[in-house]
Amino acid sequence: MNVGEPYNKIKKMKRQFQLLVVAALGLWNFSCYYDQDVEFPEASGPEIPPDEEISFQTDIEPLFSQSGKDCTVCHNGSVANPDLRVGSAYGEIVPDYVVPGDAEGSELFQKLPGNAHPIDAGFVLSSNEIALIRAWIDRGAENN
Ligand code: HEC
Repeated sequence: MNVGEPYNKIKKMKRQFQLLVVAALGLWNFSCYYDQDVEFPEASGPEIPPDEEISFQTDIEPLFSQSGKDCTVCHNGSVANPDLRVGSAYGEIVPDYVVPGDAEGSELFQKLPGNAHPIDAGFVLSSNEIALIRAWIDRGAENN
Protein backbone atom coordinates (compact mmCIF):
# COMPACT_ATOMS: atom_id res chain seq x y z
CA MET A 1 0.00 0.00 0.00
CA ASN A 2 1.19 3.46 -0.80
CA VAL A 3 1.15 5.57 2.38
CA GLY A 4 1.64 8.77 0.40
CA GLU A 5 -1.75 8.47 -1.29
CA PRO A 6 -4.14 9.71 1.42
CA TYR A 7 -1.71 12.49 2.18
CA ASN A 8 -1.72 13.59 -1.45
CA LYS A 9 -5.48 13.62 -1.40
CA ILE A 10 -5.53 15.93 1.61
CA LYS A 11 -2.98 18.16 -0.08
CA LYS A 12 -5.22 18.34 -3.14
CA MET A 13 -8.27 19.23 -1.03
CA LYS A 14 -6.31 21.91 0.74
CA ARG A 15 -5.32 23.35 -2.59
CA GLN A 16 -8.94 23.37 -3.77
CA PHE A 17 -10.00 25.09 -0.57
CA GLN A 18 -7.34 27.74 -1.03
CA LEU A 19 -8.55 28.36 -4.57
CA LEU A 20 -12.09 28.75 -3.29
CA VAL A 21 -11.00 31.28 -0.67
CA VAL A 22 -9.10 33.27 -3.26
CA ALA A 23 -12.10 33.24 -5.59
CA ALA A 24 -14.47 34.29 -2.81
CA LEU A 25 -12.20 37.11 -1.70
CA GLY A 26 -11.88 38.27 -5.29
CA LEU A 27 -15.65 38.40 -5.69
CA TRP A 28 -16.12 40.19 -2.41
CA ASN A 29 -13.50 42.72 -3.31
CA PHE A 30 -15.08 43.24 -6.71
CA SER A 31 -18.55 43.75 -5.26
CA CYS A 32 -17.28 46.45 -2.92
CA TYR A 33 -15.46 48.16 -5.73
CA TYR A 34 -18.64 48.06 -7.76
CA ASP A 35 -20.76 49.54 -4.97
CA GLN A 36 -18.49 52.43 -4.25
CA ASP A 37 -17.27 53.47 -7.56
CA VAL A 38 -19.47 53.07 -10.57
CA GLU A 39 -17.88 54.89 -13.46
CA PHE A 40 -19.60 56.24 -16.53
CA PRO A 41 -16.96 56.49 -19.21
CA GLU A 42 -17.50 57.31 -22.87
CA ALA A 43 -19.59 54.13 -23.03
CA SER A 44 -22.37 56.38 -21.77
CA GLY A 45 -22.57 57.46 -25.33
CA PRO A 46 -22.15 60.16 -27.85
CA GLU A 47 -22.51 63.84 -27.00
CA ILE A 48 -25.89 65.31 -27.78
CA PRO A 49 -25.21 68.54 -29.74
CA PRO A 50 -25.91 71.56 -27.49
CA ASP A 51 -28.39 73.04 -29.96
CA GLU A 52 -30.44 69.86 -30.13
CA GLU A 53 -33.61 70.39 -28.09
CA ILE A 54 -34.53 67.65 -25.67
CA SER A 55 -38.12 67.42 -24.56
CA PHE A 56 -39.18 65.28 -21.64
CA GLN A 57 -42.54 64.46 -23.16
CA THR A 58 -41.41 63.60 -26.66
CA ASP A 59 -37.84 62.33 -26.16
CA ILE A 60 -37.40 61.01 -22.63
CA GLU A 61 -40.69 59.68 -21.28
CA PRO A 62 -41.30 57.42 -24.32
CA LEU A 63 -37.93 55.73 -23.70
CA PHE A 64 -39.47 54.12 -20.63
CA SER A 65 -42.26 52.33 -22.50
CA GLN A 66 -40.75 51.20 -25.79
CA SER A 67 -41.97 47.93 -27.15
CA GLY A 68 -39.31 45.30 -26.48
CA LYS A 69 -37.64 47.59 -23.90
CA ASP A 70 -40.56 48.38 -21.68
CA CYS A 71 -39.57 49.57 -18.20
CA THR A 72 -43.23 49.83 -17.19
CA VAL A 73 -43.64 46.06 -17.23
CA CYS A 74 -42.02 46.39 -13.79
CA HIS A 75 -41.94 50.13 -13.05
CA ASN A 76 -45.70 50.53 -12.99
CA GLY A 77 -46.55 51.55 -9.46
CA SER A 78 -46.86 48.02 -8.10
CA VAL A 79 -43.80 45.90 -8.99
CA ALA A 80 -40.83 48.28 -8.78
CA ASN A 81 -40.13 51.93 -8.02
CA PRO A 82 -40.08 54.46 -9.57
CA ASP A 83 -43.33 54.35 -11.57
CA LEU A 84 -42.21 55.18 -15.11
CA ARG A 85 -45.58 55.14 -16.86
CA VAL A 86 -46.44 57.99 -19.19
CA GLY A 87 -48.07 60.68 -17.09
CA SER A 88 -46.53 59.52 -13.80
CA ALA A 89 -42.85 59.39 -14.68
CA TYR A 90 -41.84 63.02 -14.20
CA GLY A 91 -43.27 63.47 -10.72
CA GLU A 92 -41.91 60.08 -9.71
CA ILE A 93 -38.32 60.68 -10.76
CA VAL A 94 -37.85 64.41 -10.06
CA PRO A 95 -36.56 65.12 -7.45
CA ASP A 96 -36.36 61.65 -5.84
CA TYR A 97 -34.28 59.94 -8.53
CA VAL A 98 -33.02 62.89 -10.55
CA VAL A 99 -30.81 65.76 -9.41
CA PRO A 100 -31.41 68.43 -12.06
CA GLY A 101 -28.06 69.39 -13.57
CA ASP A 102 -26.22 66.30 -12.29
CA ALA A 103 -26.82 63.11 -14.26
CA GLU A 104 -23.98 61.18 -12.61
CA GLY A 105 -25.33 62.09 -9.20
CA SER A 106 -28.82 60.92 -10.17
CA GLU A 107 -30.00 57.47 -9.19
CA LEU A 108 -32.08 57.23 -12.34
CA PHE A 109 -29.01 57.66 -14.52
CA GLN A 110 -26.75 55.49 -12.36
CA LYS A 111 -29.15 52.58 -12.40
CA LEU A 112 -30.41 52.57 -15.96
CA PRO A 113 -30.40 49.20 -17.70
CA GLY A 114 -27.04 49.54 -19.45
CA ASN A 115 -25.49 51.33 -16.45
CA ALA A 116 -25.99 49.60 -13.11
CA HIS A 117 -29.64 48.52 -13.02
CA PRO A 118 -29.97 46.30 -9.90
CA ILE A 119 -31.45 43.31 -11.73
CA ASP A 120 -31.30 41.99 -15.28
CA ALA A 121 -34.15 43.88 -16.96
CA GLY A 122 -33.98 41.59 -19.98
CA PHE A 123 -32.65 44.43 -22.15
CA VAL A 124 -30.39 47.45 -21.95
CA LEU A 125 -30.86 50.96 -23.29
CA SER A 126 -28.66 51.90 -26.24
CA SER A 127 -25.74 54.26 -25.72
CA ASN A 128 -27.72 56.91 -27.62
CA GLU A 129 -30.72 56.54 -25.33
CA ILE A 130 -28.49 56.71 -22.26
CA ALA A 131 -26.74 59.81 -23.66
CA LEU A 132 -30.10 61.47 -24.22
CA ILE A 133 -31.17 60.85 -20.63
CA ARG A 134 -27.81 62.11 -19.39
CA ALA A 135 -28.10 65.31 -21.41
CA TRP A 136 -31.70 65.90 -20.34
CA ILE A 137 -30.68 65.67 -16.67
CA ASP A 138 -27.48 67.71 -17.10
CA ARG A 139 -29.50 70.45 -18.80
CA GLY A 140 -31.82 70.83 -15.83
CA ALA A 141 -34.32 67.94 -16.14
CA GLU A 142 -37.14 70.17 -17.30
CA ASN A 143 -40.72 68.98 -17.59
CA ASN A 144 -40.98 70.28 -21.15
C1 HEC B 1 -38.05 42.99 -15.26
C2 HEC B 1 -38.43 44.09 -14.42
C3 HEC B 1 -37.75 45.43 -14.66
C4 HEC B 1 -37.58 46.12 -15.84
C5 HEC B 1 -38.03 45.70 -17.23
C6 HEC B 1 -36.90 47.33 -15.50
N1 HEC B 1 -36.67 47.39 -14.15
FE1 HEC B 1 -35.78 48.90 -13.13
N2 HEC B 1 -35.87 47.83 -11.41
C7 HEC B 1 -36.51 46.61 -11.27
C8 HEC B 1 -36.37 46.19 -9.89
C9 HEC B 1 -36.93 44.89 -9.31
C10 HEC B 1 -35.64 47.17 -9.23
C11 HEC B 1 -35.18 47.23 -7.79
C12 HEC B 1 -36.31 47.19 -6.81
C13 HEC B 1 -37.02 48.46 -6.54
O1 HEC B 1 -36.36 49.49 -6.29
O2 HEC B 1 -38.28 48.47 -6.49
C14 HEC B 1 -35.34 48.19 -10.21
C15 HEC B 1 -34.65 49.34 -9.92
C16 HEC B 1 -34.51 50.40 -10.81
C17 HEC B 1 -33.97 51.68 -10.46
C18 HEC B 1 -33.40 52.06 -9.09
C19 HEC B 1 -34.54 52.36 -8.19
C20 HEC B 1 -34.20 52.22 -6.73
O3 HEC B 1 -35.02 52.66 -5.92
O4 HEC B 1 -33.16 51.66 -6.43
C21 HEC B 1 -34.05 52.47 -11.57
C22 HEC B 1 -33.62 53.93 -11.71
C23 HEC B 1 -34.63 51.67 -12.62
N3 HEC B 1 -34.90 50.42 -12.13
C24 HEC B 1 -34.87 52.11 -13.90
C25 HEC B 1 -35.35 51.31 -14.93
C26 HEC B 1 -35.53 51.77 -16.29
C27 HEC B 1 -35.28 53.18 -16.77
C28 HEC B 1 -35.98 50.69 -17.00
C29 HEC B 1 -36.27 50.62 -18.47
C30 HEC B 1 -35.33 51.22 -19.40
C31 HEC B 1 -36.10 49.57 -16.07
N4 HEC B 1 -35.70 49.98 -14.83
C32 HEC B 1 -36.55 48.32 -16.41
C33 HEC B 1 -37.15 45.91 -12.25
C34 HEC B 1 -37.18 46.25 -13.60
